[in-house]
Amino acid sequence: MTTAPAVRDAELADWPGIWRVLEPAFRVGETYTYPRDIAEDDARVAWTGSPGVRVLVAVDDAGTVLGTAKYLPNHPGAGAHVANASFVVGPDAAGRGVGRALARAVLDGARADGYRAMQFNAVVETNERAVRLWESLGFAVLATVPEAFDHPVHGLVGLHVMHRTL
Ligand SMILES: CC(C)(COP(=O)(O)OP(=O)(O)OC[C@H]1O[C@@H](n2cnc3c(N)ncnc32)[C@H](O)[C@@H]1OP(=O)(O)O)[C@@H](O)C(=O)NCCC(=O)NCCS
Repeated sequence: MTTAPAVRDAELADWPGIWRVLEPAFRVGETYTYPRDIAEDDARVAWTGSPGVRVLVAVDDAGTVLGTAKYLPNHPGAGAHVANASFVVGPDAAGRGVGRALARAVLDGARADGYRAMQFNAVVETNERAVRLWESLGFAVLATVPEAFDHPVHGLVGLHVMHRTL
């Protein structure tokens, strides 16, 4: 891909495309703590149904969903000025700048929405592509919770808590 994909707010009609992107990542189970056999309806609630969530999609020229992200308050009430975010790019679109374009849109959107910082609670330490991307965008690893993620290939590995101000 020579130019960054378009990133926009998700619409109801985008769900089938979002699920097509999410399902492979959830089934493989190497990057998120969702149950690997999660049902589509439960995934829809988990991705789009939390209070205050904003869901974005990256699309190609034909409107096909290439990746999706969501951001929301990391905590309610007194913690609601810190955003949490999640990202998944479909396997067909990996390594073409979609994740970076989604991340930039999420950072810009969260800042415009008034969040003061962004925190990732559970970045799997073996997910080198994601860790490198977040670090290149100004996130730092604050701590690593040891053996907090049961990786299907590597066994028990750490979960990074990553943070940056906005
Ligand atoms: C992490 C993820 C969102 C990155 O999306 P992507 O579209 O493949 O990433 P990009 O093409 O935008 O590349 C971003 C950076 O990743 C790194 N990267 C890309 N391909 C890589 C590869 N094959 N190996 C290692 N790092 C790689 C590079 O640092 C790249 O930076 P660059 O723009 O300077 O080249 C995507 O791999 C994904 O959805 N993974 C599964 C779910 C997941 O891990 N989500 C994040 C959980 S914290």
